[in-house]
Amino acid sequence: MASDKNGKKKMDEEKPDLSDIYEYRKKLKKLLKPDRYEHSLSVSFTCICLAMKYGVDLYKAEVAGLLHDCAKQFSNQELIKLCDKEGVELTEDMLKAPQVIHSVYGAEYARKAFGIKDMEILSAIFYHTLGCPEMSVLEEIVFVADYIEARRYKAERLPEIRRMAFEDLDRAVYEINHDTISYLEESGGFVCKDSYDTYHYYKELMKKRGLPIK
Ligand SMILES: [Fe+2]
Ligand SMILES: [Fe+2]
Repeated sequence: MASDKNGKKKMDEEKPDLSDIYEYRKKLKKLLKPDRYEHSLSVSFTCICLAMKYGVDLYKAEVAGLLHDCAKQFSNQELIKLCDKEGVELTEDMLKAPQVIHSVYGAEYARKAFGIKDMEILSAIFYHTLGCPEMSVLEEIVFVADYIEARRYKAERLPEIRRMAFEDLDRAVYEINHDTISYLEESGGFVCKDSYDTYHYYKELMKKRGLPIK
């Protein structure tokens, strides 16, 4: 903390302007079902905590977390139609696993309906379900926060992965991918190639670092 000429303590940071965030919350609350809105808030707060730990812009982390599921209000059929109409490209795999489309269209919807222009935020929304090799720290934060936020309770290794997220973010991405893919394979769900690509990239990263892999 710096001092002014009278020796009075001065804060180094300016008070952040949160008016945008309050507007986004108000709008999102009207669009989403209550439990989805609650999840979105919880993801945004978890993103803030991870951003503090990993030195990422807190505002970007909060907005990306808050809006990551902004397209969840649409059914899969509506999402496919919207993507077709608005020229958002979908792969064959995404059409076989339409539950992932809300992330791809979510980036477009956050831009259009919420006026988000920041490419780092839009990209974190885009990749929050499938991930991609070599994600940015902000992308990893949203991907992980979506899985570990405090309202989640179903995944088996949540306490372990929550702890890991604050110790080694790359490792948390690897473990989440591993568990999600295993669950889908065991339950007969379809796994997109993009998910396997993310998984293999992070698996190689763990190997290079000499960390245990499954
Ligand atoms: Fe999502
Ligand atoms: Fe989510």
